[in-house]
Amino acid sequence: MKSFPALPYLSGNFAPLLAECDAGDIVIEGEIPRDLQGALYRTGPNPMFPPLGNSHHWFLGEGMVHGFFIEDSRVRYRNRWVQTHQYQEQRKAGRRLYNSAFSFDPGDPSVEGKQRNVANTNIVPHAGKLYALDEGSSPVLMDPATLETIGPSTFDGRYTGPMTAHPKIDARTGEMFFFGYMAAGPGTPDISFTVVGRDGKVVRSEMFKAPYASMVHDFAITDQHIIFPIFPATIDLGRIMKGGPLIAWDPEQPSLIGIMPRAGTTSEIRWFKGPPAYVYHPMNSFTEGNTVTLDLCVYPRVPLFPNADGSRAPSNLADAPARLERWTFDLAANTDQFKREPLDDLATEFPRIDDRWTGLKHRHGYTGAILGEKLPGSPFDTIVHFDLGKNARETWTPGPGDFVMEPIFAPKAASKAEADGYLLTVVFRGNENRSDLVVLDAQNVKAGPIATAKLPVRVPFGFHGNWNPLNGVAHQHE
Ligand SMILES: [Fe+2]
Repeated sequence: MKSFPALPYLSGNFAPLLAECDAGDIVIEGEIPRDLQGALYRTGPNPMFPPLGNSHHWFLGEGMVHGFFIEDSRVRYRNRWVQTHQYQEQRKAGRRLYNSAFSFDPGDPSVEGKQRNVANTNIVPHAGKLYALDEGSSPVLMDPATLETIGPSTFDGRYTGPMTAHPKIDARTGEMFFFGYMAAGPGTPDISFTVVGRDGKVVRSEMFKAPYASMVHDFAITDQHIIFPIFPATIDLGRIMKGGPLIAWDPEQPSLIGIMPRAGTTSEIRWFKGPPAYVYHPMNSFTEGNTVTLDLCVYPRVPLFPNADGSRAPSNLADAPARLERWTFDLAANTDQFKREPLDDLATEFPRIDDRWTGLKHRHGYTGAILGEKLPGSPFDTIVHFDLGKNARETWTPGPGDFVMEPIFAPKAASKAEADGYLLTVVFRGNENRSDLVVLDAQNVKAGPIATAKLPVRVPFGFHGNWNPLNGVAHQHE
């Protein structure tokens, strides 16, 4: 194939890793704790072929999953492309068929009318299955032990629409909650809402109409409520037909936060209204009495997308970072307004918690942040631990030329207390063009690595990952 053009999201550690490999025993500095046993999965865009033209969007590269299998203080690594229909068709053709720019043009005439599926955004274990997800298509099942692609999931035919890459799992009930936007077709404001039981089977699925069609990346749950945040990165078919952008920043629209009783239906969603903003990722949400609290990383404007008229963002906003805020909703008050307060002034994203606290009042949160120079593509150089109980934070910065990815919490085996465990992140060593898996103490992040597993390869900057504590996953594919 031809070489990749020198575009920002195809260069440096955004460039794809064009090999699938297995590393049986990784060199480890320090010692991997004995009570850390399981698999860390991470995923991100890893475009398999150069773009069709000279335009490529970071979000549209084909997904590659990276697995770190940890057992008895040893680490094995394996990476595999998610073999979606898009992957298979392009591999057969030996070139890119699907457009990797956000455009009305699907790409090669042979894929006209076919749905794109990059499965590059998250990799989520639930009920013994492993779901590779992008928000525009059905989930793709992968083998949790081998990372081989099994195929598309329709939940036994019960749900065949798009699925967010950010389902929420209630650790107490084992249920998985998810939504899908544009669920009635391209450009529609229809959103599906589905609950999957701890046995992996769909319990309920329904549809509702959002106030307007937009890119809805993530949502939140509490033990009593489901929260659907709608932000004005709009999808307007009229605009598209006139040659305008598919997804665009449209500050004429407000931010709208829908709150639904978890025991109720989508007809009971109550909408709260705020000024235009954009949020890719909430940290967590919880209900106390009549109050719903939502912690989230808020951008003043959607990054990476143009204005509704097709023009670029003003330079002071194009790269404006997200900051952690707390939004509070009073369900007893007769108002559609809510309280908004900053929690910190750091440029920060990829918020995570101890997932056992999903929907419950959390004290600890973890993010990636930029403390040093802001570089093209905005890679994060620092891991942050927020102790919201003490209103304090601690950070760990690996060093000059090094960058971190989303921090993922892994509890100590048999531990019950919040944040009693480890924080896992993949660090790009810029000076060595190689990556490390780093294990931090989740309650003492600033002390630096407990252990560092030194990969022989580079893991491109990606999106999300999850810890799978299942016994036996670690050693099934010798
Ligand atoms: Fe995301």
